[in-house]
Order: sequence, then structure tokens, then C-alpha cells
Amino acid sequence: MSSQRLKRLSKAWQDWGTADPLYAILSSPEYWQNKGDINRFLATGRETVSDLMQRVDELNLCTERRRALDFGCGIGRLTHALAPIFDQVVGLDIATSMVERARSIHSSVTNCYFEVEVGEDLGRFPDAYFDCVISLLVLQHLGSEDAIAGYLHEFLRILRPGGALIVQLPTTVSVAPPPPPLMTRRGMKRIFGYFLRGLGVSPARLHSRLDWSPEMTMTAISAERTKREIESKGGRIAFTSAPETDSGGTVSWVYIVTR
Ligand SMILES: C[S@@+](CC[C@H](N)C(=O)[O-])C[C@H]1O[C@@H](n2cnc3c(N)ncnc32)[C@H](O)[C@@H]1O
Repeated sequence: MSSQRLKRLSKAWQDWGTADPLYAILSSPEYWQNKGDINRFLATGRETVSDLMQRVDELNLCTERRRALDFGCGIGRLTHALAPIFDQVVGLDIATSMVERARSIHSSVTNCYFEVEVGEDLGRFPDAYFDCVISLLVLQHLGSEDAIAGYLHEFLRILRPGGALIVQLPTTVSVAPPPPPLMTRRGMKRIFGYFLRGLGVSPARLHSRLDWSPEMTMTAISAERTKREIESKGGRIAFTSAPETDSGGTVSWVYIVTR
């Protein structure tokens, strides 16, 4: 990924984390413009982790439970749910706003550590460091298949043999609706929003007053390429979920991978 692209991605997520983090994470209308119940939101993370770890147990993977990584942790929806299962859980995110929120919400969870990570690899971690790596709803936003592949390689490098990598990836993404025509009220609001953001107006203000939203890109990767990239680094797909289709038409799969 070019450094310019990375900067743009980081800025967009920084804005989402300031303006409307719960909606940005689950994209469900119930959370739009900071509505919805945070406890219910966090409960979705516990349900997801519980289902996935049950599957990991059935596969007899990740039998040691020392360290887990939640890559693209957002406000810690999944991270806090891993805390009772592992000795130590690290949540990494590109957006400082997300990490700060995660730290404040989960301040009483003493074995969760939240850090900002703006880079293209996970060089801060040695090989075979984590028993489990989880990354849900993240790689789809990286902007290119090669960037996704790069992170799959890194996840496998830092995964202990016999550990579990749990990763969600879409094979089809919804086509974003075209922006509203400029000479309409919505079109003008959108352009005006970007203009004001460029002048430094807070994203939260623009989001609530003008319905302006930061950028959110989606990238798909075929199941064949995913398998090829995983196998090229000595990984093995132990489980593939049934496909899940969201309201916009994005079709996703969760893979449990070991090496
Ligand atoms: C849709 S949210 C999902 C959050 C979390 N995984 C969950 O399921 O609750 C995507 C998150 O990935 C983060 N993110 C996007 N690109 C990233 C990157 N290159 N490195 C680290 N985090 C990234 C965003 O800041 C955002 O918090």
C-alpha cells in the first residue's frame, strides 16, 4: 500500500472513530449517529468470540492460551471478549480515536492492551508470538488484494504452530451507490462537508449536522487467492464458515487457519 493510501485510510478511520464509531464498526442502522446501546454492541462481540472459540476447540487448535491479537480492534468489541480466555490480549488499530475509546471502555479489563498501529506489517512482534490472531471486518477495508495478502502473510508469521488465525474476508462486496448529483441538496451537503473537513471542522459535527460521512472502501478477495496466500506461508485452512451476506450484498466468509 502506498504511504499516501495508508495516510488516507488512517485519517478516514480516525474520523469514523471520532464521529460515529459503533456505526462504523457494525454498519447497522441501529447505531447510526451514535445511537444504540453500547452494552448490546459489546454483547455481539462476546457472542461472536464464543461461537468461534467453540469451533477452535472442536478443531483442537490453540490449546495454549497465553497471547491473542485482535487486529483492527476498533473499540475492543472482540478484544474484551477474548480477555477471559487468554492471559494477555493485544488490540491494535490504525485509528487513535478508536484506541482511546477502547482504553476508556475497557479500563477495568487488566489483561487487554490497546495500541495504535499505522504500518504495513507487524514487525513489532517476533515470529510465532501469538496463540491466536483474530481479525474480523478489517482486511476488507485495506483497499487492495495485495495489501490483504500482505497481512495474511504477517498473521501467519506471528502465529504459533498449532495456533488459530481467525479471519473474515469478503469474496463479493456491495457496489457503493454513486454519490448524489452535485446540484442536489444532498450532493451540495456532501461536497460542503468535505470542504469544511478540509478546513478542520470536526468530523463529529459534520456527521451530525450535515450527515457527512468519512470514506469507507471495500475490497473483495477470491477464496482461491485467499487459500493460495495462506498456503504459500505454510498455513492450512481448517474451517470455512457458511457465507454471510449483509444488507448491502457483501458476501463474507470466516476462515480458521492454522500452521
Ligand atoms: C469495521 S471496524 C471492525 C472493528 C473490530 N474488528 C470489530 O469487529 O469490532 C474496522 C477497524 O479496522 C481498523 N483498521 C482499518 N484499517 C486498518 C489497518 N490497516 N491497520 C489497523 N487497523 C485498521 C479501523 O480503524 C476500524 O477500527
